[in-house]
Amino acid sequence: MPEVVFQIRQLRKQRISSGAAFCLEVPELTIQAGERLALVGTSGSGKSTLLDILAMVLSVDRAEHFAFTPPDQPTHDLALLWRRGALDAFTRLRRHYFGYVLQSGGLLGFLTVRDNIALPRRWCALPEDDTVARLAERLGLTRLLDAYPATLSVGERQRVAIARALAHGPPIVLADEPTASLDPLNADSVMDLFLGLVTEQGVTVIVASHDWPRMERYGLRRIAPELARQSSADGDQVTARFARIDP
Ligand SMILES: Nc1ncnc2c1ncn2[C@@H]1O[C@H](COP(=O)(O)OP(=O)(O)OP(=O)(O)O)[C@@H](O)[C@H]1O
Ligand SMILES: [Mg+2]
Repeated sequence: MPEVVFQIRQLRKQRISSGAAFCLEVPELTIQAGERLALVGTSGSGKSTLLDILAMVLSVDRAEHFAFTPPDQPTHDLALLWRRGALDAFTRLRRHYFGYVLQSGGLLGFLTVRDNIALPRRWCALPEDDTVARLAERLGLTRLLDAYPATLSVGERQRVAIARALAHGPPIVLADEPTASLDPLNADSVMDLFLGLVTEQGVTVIVASHDWPRMERYGLRRIAPELARQSSADGDQVTARFARIDP
């Protein structure tokens, strides 16, 4: 039987920016080990919010059930950990089990490409081996290993962000619009490299994207929000209810 990585029931998160309220809801979602999923929706529909919740960088307001089970490990009750404010536990889980490709790249400007890619291995106290060189080779970054992020093109930065997300061999990789700022040809080549690498390593991958046709072409399964707008005297609220869309 496939292992369950995330199990969510009745999860809710509200965000308020300058008077406008946004509410994310996940009534029921199970994610199994090795799945390749796409969170698909328009701008502002909550894709990054849900990714950040799965990555444990954003708290939830409430969840009847929110459990994370790393491979061959006991289950962690994330709802309980959030109630306890167990930030150290989240940091530990994140560092060991997650790679996260941020939309902006999220690279550290004062570190070279080599050191950016190596950073998650240091956090996990993993030995210095040929992983960084191997990933750089696969992603066409070898000649850039001593360069700093500011001197790279957008596509190169995204490839470095992908290498960094994979460097410590995490079982789960999240990616927020990893190809959004690239032209279609480069987007395809970065996506090919990214999905090729994660598939080889058998990891669970969750990609946020507004581009469902592209995600579908790569065989990803879809999770999407149903949006509802409400107006009241207090202002407008958008509710995004995320669920799997069956093919
Ligand atoms: N830090 C924040 N504080 C308050 N509200 C926020 C914050 N970040 C995002 N929001 C709001 O949450 C809602 C969902 O935003 P989110 O970034 O998750 O959307 P998205 O689907 O990732 O959009 P995009 O495709 O543009 O990246 C939006 O209404 C946004 O204004
Ligand atoms: Mg986003």
